[in-house]
Amino acid sequence: MKPSLIVHGGAWDIPDEQAAACQAGCRRALEAGWAMLSRGGAALDAVEAAIVVLEDDPVFDAGTGSHLNLDGQVECDAIVMEGASLRAGAVAGLKRIRNPIRLARKLMENGPHMMLAGEGAERYAVAQGFSLCAPEELVTAAERAAWKLCREGKHAAAHHRGHDQGTVGAVALDGMGRLVAATSTGGTCCKLPGRIGDSPLIGCGCYADSGAGGVSCTGYGEGIMKIVMAKSAVDLLRRPVNAEESPADLAMLAAREAVRLLVERAESTGGLILLDCEGNPGYAFNTPRMAWGVVQPDGSFRTGL
Ligand code: GLY
Repeated sequence: MKPSLIVHGGAWDIPDEQAAACQAGCRRALEAGWAMLSRGGAALDAVEAAIVVLEDDPVFDAGTGSHLNLDGQVECDAIVMEGASLRAGAVAGLKRIRNPIRLARKLMENGPHMMLAGEGAERYAVAQGFSLCAPEELVTAAERAAWKLCREGKHAAAHHRGHDQGTVGAVALDGMGRLVAATSTGGTCCKLPGRIGDSPLIGCGCYADSGAGGVSCTGYGEGIMKIVMAKSAVDLLRRPVNAEESPADLAMLAAREAVRLLVERAESTGGLILLDCEGNPGYAFNTPRMAWGVVQPDGSFRTGL
C-alpha cells in the first residue's frame, strides 16, 4: 500500500507575520514523518515524529510554547489512536512533560488504561522512564507576555501566536496499511486550571478506524466535543462513493461536512485533517486560516493556510 501523511498546526486567525513560520513548521513535521514512512516505517512512528516536531516548535499551541492557563501555567493534552485495534492512549493536564505525544503513545502501548490525567499521568511517565521538565521550561516569553495582556482584559489575537487554537495533529497510513491519528495541544488561553478540551478525548479531537479513516481536529474544544467531530468525520467517510465522485472527492467532502456540522449544531469554529483508509487526504476549516501540510502522491510536500 502507498503510504500517506497529513499534518496540521491549528485552525485560527493566523496573522500574516506568523504565516511563514506555521507553514515551515508543518513542512518540518512532514519531513520527520515522511522520513520514516518512505523507508517502510510504521505509521505510529511517523505520527509521533511529526507531532514531536510540532510540539517543540513554539509557534504552535502544544508542548513548548503552549498557551497558559488562568494561573499562568502550561497544561497539555495529547492522544494517539491506532485504526486497526481501535486502541488509544490519551493524557491530559500535563505540566512537566516536554512531549506529551510520547507519553500518550507509551500509555497506548504499555498502559492498563486509555487515558490518564494530571499528577497520576506524570507519575506514570516517571514509572515508564520519562524525565520530568520544570513547568517553566514549556513557557515561552511570548506566551507569558500574551497571558499578562489577557489578564489585563486585552484578550486579542494580536497578542498571541496561536490565540485560541494552535493545536497540532497528524494522520498517517503506512505501507502495511496501518492507520494512526494523533493530536496534541496546550488548550485555550487563560483556561480554568483543570480544563480539558476536545483534543485528548477519543472521538472528539482524534479518531482512527482502519475500516474508514483517521482524523485529527483543531478549534474550539467546547464546540468540537458537542458534535464528537473526529468520529463524526470518520463516519462520513463510510458513505459509498457515488457515480459523480472519486474516493479523493469523498475525503474532502467528508472533511467539509464535519465542519458544516460544527457550525450548524455547535455554532463553533475549527477544522480538521483526515486520511481515508486508502490514504486519500481531506481537510477543512471555518476559521480565517488553518496551517496544514500533506505529502502528495509524487512524494513532494504541500503546505497551506
Ligand atoms: N482544540 C483544543 C482545545 O480546545 O483544547
